[in-house]
Amino acid sequence: MTTVVYPGSFDPITCGHLDIIKRASKQFDKVIVAVLNNSSKKPMFSAEERVKLIEKSIADLPNCSAERFDGLLVDFARQKNASAVVKGLRAITDFEYEFQMALLNKKMEPEIETIFMVTNANYSYISSSIVKEIASLGGDFCDLVPAEIYEDVKLKIKEGR
Ligand code: PNS
Repeated sequence: MTTVVYPGSFDPITCGHLDIIKRASKQFDKVIVAVLNNSSKKPMFSAEERVKLIEKSIADLPNCSAERFDGLLVDFARQKNASAVVKGLRAITDFEYEFQMALLNKKMEPEIETIFMVTNANYSYISSSIVKEIASLGGDFCDLVPAEIYEDVKLKIKEGR
């Protein structure tokens, strides 16, 4: 059985993230979406809220689950018996940072591979930061996040005002 971990901040999950999760779920037996809790970034949603939003979005994908993690990604992946980390690449600008992380993760845990999946061109311009910016400025972001979480994002923006 091949288990992979798909890590990120997911603040919040976007259609681009969901596309990678769906595609990974067809390639691997089990996909664990790993939500980083100890980021230096100040998130809009708490780690628990981000996990809940992902769970709502992946409810129809029986071999996918979401959980938060603290500390090193390779430690979490090892704990879960995952053989690989899946990352999405949106553009060449993502590559340098992702390549650095992949090499460092490989150095720390040679048994865990990093597998890059190219983002669907329809979603290559979407990021969680862009979603938050458009939503907080009152723009239409319904095509940018999974339909299941659209109202949650709207509500969070309203609460923050
Ligand atoms: O969505 P993001 O913020 O680009 O995701 C970054 C993430 C969570 C994948 C990365 O920061 C990470 O793996 N953090 C965990 C800490 C860790 O293992 N750091 C060393 C990686 S070289």
